Order: sequence, then structure tokens, then C-alpha cells
Amino acid sequence: MSLKCEQLTYTELAAQFGTPLYVYSRAALDEAFKAYQTAFATLNPLICYAVKANSNLSVIRRFAELGSGFDIVSGGELARVLAAGGDAGKTIFSGVGKSEAEIEFALKSGVKCFNVESLPELDRINQVAAALGKQAPISLRINPDVDAKTHPYISTGLKANKFGIAMSEAEAAYRYAASLPHLNITGIDCHIGSQLIDLAPLTEACERILLLVDKLEAAGIALQHIDLGGGVGIVYHNEQKPDLQAYADAVAKVMDKRPQQLVLEPGRSLVGNAGALLTRVEFIKQGEEKHFVIVDAAMNDLMRPALYQAYHHIENAEPTDAAPILADIVGPVCETGDFLAQNRKIAAKPGDLLVVRSAGAYASSMASNYNTRARAAEVLVSGSKAKLVRRRETIEEMLANETECL
Ligand code: LLP
Repeated sequence: MSLKCEQLTYTELAAQFGTPLYVYSRAALDEAFKAYQTAFATLNPLICYAVKANSNLSVIRRFAELGSGFDIVSGGELARVLAAGGDAGKTIFSGVGKSEAEIEFALKSGVKCFNVESLPELDRINQVAAALGKQAPISLRINPDVDAKTHPYISTGLKANKFGIAMSEAEAAYRYAASLPHLNITGIDCHIGSQLIDLAPLTEACERILLLVDKLEAAGIALQHIDLGGGVGIVYHNEQKPDLQAYADAVAKVMDKRPQQLVLEPGRSLVGNAGALLTRVEFIKQGEEKHFVIVDAAMNDLMRPALYQAYHHIENAEPTDAAPILADIVGPVCETGDFLAQNRKIAAKPGDLLVVRSAGAYASSMASNYNTRARAAEVLVSGSKAKLVRRRETIEEMLANETECL
């Protein structure tokens, strides 16, 4: 049986657009967004899609059409949201190191809120707002010191992480923010990590934040929104699928009758399993100890295995008559860390097309030109239609910004 994205086979997509190729299903994007809306229906949250997960303009545009807000971490991401027709008024600006130029751009665009991570950042936003004669809406990112039980590189809510302001310093930080004339305190936020399978830490973080909200209110600091950060994890391999409804119910229980608006910033769970990376087998190489399936996609197209030892399921797009082997599936990049899978059972021969699953999130958005490899094309599928939403980069484009030597 040929594998398909909606009504199109991966084989026909690869023939039309070439490989490596990211393929996204629009129906899957819609379904994932609607799952959040349904699960959290009683709370009517503002869902702010975390653009970093997949920043293709067509993906952003689709979420904007569905009513989404956005979570951004750079001026570049803000430009993408605006170019895709997203609403700045529903856009939250996160990140630990916003530059003056980025703050100015965001203030002029009218973002909903700056999620602030330190006192010097409060000063900087205040100064930029003063120079523009504006009031900047701010929220403080509070570090709830909860162990998200995820990969250390994507765990953000611990004391040892660079993110957020410590719980113990929160009240003083809010008082400081209140003393700055060009800031408007509007909310509170937290984010404890990504790819969360066990949702208990998320609920715990929410409870801790709400206790703080009560304390702040008693101290005369009233907030309009509570932002619980990123979304739930997805199934890459054999993880237990996180129960979004159970998480929503737990949040609804503790948010009970609070006046504040709930804000969520899911990324991975809105796009991750809506996408695949198609790659063609170049060679089968038998090393002294191992087999290698050498494919035309590499770590520059999908960093996650190299960076986090992440697992991505890999399947043949078509039935194959090749014999199964145990192999590392590797790309052409000159790094030992350039693998898409290790010790994987696979049956493939040169020319076969492989489908790397769960490549909708943190794949194309983390791609690079390492080894001067052009970034792959991206295609959005809806039913029997496929649209090229980013064309393959050319060698000329890669070289264009480099001037001659002195
Ligand atoms: N909000 C903030 C402030 C974040 O830092 C993140 C992700 C999100 C929202 C979205 O979280 P999600 O719903 O996707 O879990 N490159 C890594 C993931 C890094 C996540 C960074 N922050 C990976 O490929 O696993």
C-alpha cells in the first residue's frame, strides 16, 4: 500500500516536488487546533500558536484563519506573523534577549504583550516605550521550579535554566514593573518545557502560578491574563499519548471562575504530526560493523536526532522487495552526528522513498545551510491538492549575500 498525505501519495509528491521535501497536511493542522479549542472550550482561551515550531507563512496563515493568536520570539517571527495576516493584538512576544529594535517593532505593531524574563529587560522595554511615547503591555515569566521530566535541552522551568524570574522574586519584580511609568502590567506567564508526556508537572505549574496570582492580587497587583506556556507532547515512538482533555479539565478546575483570560502557547502539538519529511535512498553501505542507509536528507533538514537523540519513525513510502536490515539512516553531511535514525530495522534499496514522520515541528524551522546544502522545499496538502509553500532554495540564493574578499 502506498503511504499518503490526505489523498496524495508521497510518491507522487516526491516526483512532483523533489526530495528532500517537507509535506504538511492542512486537515491535520486544523484538527490539532480544533482539539485545543474543544478541550479548553469552557475556558475560551486565546491560543497563541508558537511560531518557532514551524514558521512557514502558509502554516501561520492557516492558524490565523482558524482564529489563532501567536507566540513569537524574535522580530523575524513577528514579521512572519504580520506577513501571513496574523493579528498583532493577539501576539505574545516571548524570549530572554529582545533587542531594542525588536521591542520598538513590536510596540509599533501593537503586540498584545511582552513576556518579560528579567529586570534589565523591564528597564529596556520601559525606555523604548518612553522614547515612542507609548505604554508597553507586559507579563512576567515566572519560573515555577517544576521538573517537566523531558529532555534537558528542552526543559525550561527549573531554577537552573536561563528562563524566567524566580517565584521568590516575583512580587518584588511586579512591584518594580509597576514603578516604571511606561509599562502596563497585564499578565503572568510560565513555560516549563516542551515534549511533555507526563502532564502532572504542567498542572502543578498552573497551580503554583495561580497561588502567586492570588498573592499578587492581595498585594494590589491585578492581572488580566494567565499564560500557561507551551502545549502537550506528541507521539513520536511509543510514548503514551498525552490526554489533552484531562489537562484542560485540570486547568479548568483550578481556574474556576477566575476573571483572567487563559492564554496557551502550543507549538509542537499543533504541527508535529501534521508533517513528514520525504527523503530518497542514495546508497546502502555496508560498514565493518554496521549497515548505513544513506539518504538525501540530513541533520541540516532535521536536527532533532543529532541534537536531542530524538526518535522519528521512518517508513517506506511504497512496499519494497528489499530485505530488512538493521542500519543507521544517515545523510550526506560530514558529521558522525548526522543521522536520522540509529540501529533501525529498515528494508530499503537505492531509489526508494522514505517517509520520516512527525517532521511538522522543529524540523524546517531549525533547518540550516550546513555543508552549503540548500534548504528543502515545503508543500501543503489539502485533499487532492498540493501547494508548494516554500520553494527549494537555490545555490545562487545561498551565495548571494557574500561579497568578495578584501
Ligand atoms: N512557549 C515558549 C515560551 C517556548 O519556549 C516554547 C518552546 C513554546 C511555547 C512551545 O512549546 P511546545 O508546545 O512546542 O512544546 N527544538 C526543540 C523544542 C524547543 C522548544 C522551545 N520552546 C525540539 O525539537 O524538541
